[in-house]
Amino acid sequence: MASFSAFAPASLSNLGPGFDSLGVALEGWGDQVTIDLDKEPGFSVIYDANSVWAGTTDPLRNTASVSAMHVAQLAGYRHGARLCVKKGIRAGSGLGSSAASAVAGALAMNAALGSPFSKAELLQSCLAGEATVSGAIHGDNVVPCLIGGIVLVDADDPTDFLSIVSPENLHFAIILPEIEVFTQQARSLLPDQITLHEGAVWASNLARLAVAITNGDIERIGRLIMRDEIVEPIRAGLIEPYRDIKWSAIKAGALGCALSGSGPAMFAVCDTAESAAFVAQAMQKACTDHAVHCLSVSSRVNMHGAYVGQRHV
Ligand code: HSE
Repeated sequence: MASFSAFAPASLSNLGPGFDSLGVALEGWGDQVTIDLDKEPGFSVIYDANSVWAGTTDPLRNTASVSAMHVAQLAGYRHGARLCVKKGIRAGSGLGSSAASAVAGALAMNAALGSPFSKAELLQSCLAGEATVSGAIHGDNVVPCLIGGIVLVDADDPTDFLSIVSPENLHFAIILPEIEVFTQQARSLLPDQITLHEGAVWASNLARLAVAITNGDIERIGRLIMRDEIVEPIRAGLIEPYRDIKWSAIKAGALGCALSGSGPAMFAVCDTAESAAFVAQAMQKACTDHAVHCLSVSSRVNMHGAYVGQRHV
């Protein structure tokens, strides 16, 4: 029987004040899942020899197989499947690693079954996979990963979302320190309640950020991603070089710098590719000065999201 592969990109989420609601798909990094249908019942997971990361092979805990099983159930498919996962994104990175595997798993399974579902119809399956590891249904990685671009999702119901027009000259410098921060743990640190004033400030920052993105106002985007006064200050404590990375990004010319998702990845906003490459190097130096190994890259908005097929690099 034929193999079916799908690739799903890494993503930045939250972008400062957009906790659980704002995310962007990235060019470059991503996960690939290949599926072979099996007449025997049951799902199994292995990792590709070239995978940069290997996680659980328990099909009930792996985000790729959970979303693939969800698709199979929707389609009424009662046999089994073998999944091979090639992770380009490290788990616990803050770059939507679990979301990318969930999305690639759902898309590959859909392709293997003859593509009965549209991307929109696969969203629930992708969210089910993501929830396996994050302990909550949040769509700010899954939705941009699936459809591409910059997306605002309803934090209560991620199946309701809006795509925002992406500015042409929006560039990101991204650093991934070798520190593990798992979403479930990073969420457990957050307060259950905030004051009305905090809520008002937060809402106004997110609303202005969304308009700044639509207007292509990169300088204001940079300023506003640094205006989360509730979630990021708590999580920053999990990342020792946080302050120095941020300071070095701004000093090197970035217009703003923030955590991606629950971290440890951080991203800086720049208005040219050259500036993003320079800022990425400065962030990397700040991190290694703390004796923390890291990867740094520059990237842009990925407008297409996940797709069926192998990635050609
Ligand atoms: N919005 C999620 C959070 C993203 O911040 O917990 C997880 O990467």
